[in-house]
Amino acid sequence: MLTFFPCGTHTLRRRDPGARPVVIAAAALLLAGCAGRQSTLDPRGPVADSIATMWWVLLAGAALIFLLVMAALLYAMFRRQSRRAALPPLALLIGGGLVFPTVVLTALLVYGTEVGRRITVAVDAPLVIDVVGHQWWWEVRYPGDERGPEMTTANELRLPVGVPVLVRVRSADVIHSFWIPNLAGKVDMIPGRVNTLRLRAGEAGLFRVQCSEFCGAQHAHMNFDAIAEDGERFDAWRRARAAAADVAPGPGLDTFIERGCALCHQVRGTAAAGHAGPELTHYGARLQQSADSDEDTAAAVRAWLVDHGRSRKPGSRGPTAHALAASDIETIAGFLERLR
Ligand code: CUA
Repeated sequence: MLTFFPCGTHTLRRRDPGARPVVIAAAALLLAGCAGRQSTLDPRGPVADSIATMWWVLLAGAALIFLLVMAALLYAMFRRQSRRAALPPLALLIGGGLVFPTVVLTALLVYGTEVGRRITVAVDAPLVIDVVGHQWWWEVRYPGDERGPEMTTANELRLPVGVPVLVRVRSADVIHSFWIPNLAGKVDMIPGRVNTLRLRAGEAGLFRVQCSEFCGAQHAHMNFDAIAEDGERFDAWRRARAAAADVAPGPGLDTFIERGCALCHQVRGTAAAGHAGPELTHYGARLQQSADSDEDTAAAVRAWLVDHGRSRKPGSRGPTAHALAASDIETIAGFLERLR
């Protein structure tokens, strides 16, 4: 236990000089849990701010009550039986068992409800984003509005800094949950139902989006990065993504269509118009090519094409019947990389 507290360093150093680095590392690790791009305690927007503050208030309240209960326990265990209690038993029972919890829980309920109301209240959101959860990838659609034309992409999400956003989420298969810890709370993505979430990025940055509802074998790998950037850059990105693919007819496109890829994937500007799998129009320009892709290298793209990701993400959907020849894999990979 001691190793988890930096203040225990001196005690341990006397006993075991080698333990000090371990203590420091453990303390750093513990504190690191409070920061970073997948931490609710590192808020980067007003909604996440309210949630983080509430977390600290509840933690402080719980810690205080725990200390009070422990003090009462120790008092009961060690007070001398001969001495009279400071308070009559009935007063202790009513005060500590009825009045105190009623007051504390009512205060926390009112506070929690008010925070919940504040972060979900309908405010004018100039930007709406539709996000659909799939096993195991994310479809992201920007409906047309005065900022830009309608646009669909996959495994990438961008937000303009300072703009209130309404995120409408749903699922294409099982229940998922949409969560950007730095920006807002979680909301379930339920088949046949549209749920909404309001958020606003308070500053530019790269934030993690993580599915937070167990949705099958690759649930832990259902994540990607969201980028918050200034309005002009966001608008330019959206216009670029809304454009059709700049792709010339040739063996790349022909192979993509002939081998059946186009049955499930869309590449706007070509005959490929499938919708079962991720949209691929600007695939080569994406920051991430697939959900949970810390290693989106040329080799990873080719490895994916060998078995449509089944060795990398067992359980992934996709064609099982046919295997691509090595030459086709190279042709299709090159085609995808040129989709910019
Ligand atoms: Cu999708 Cu967990």
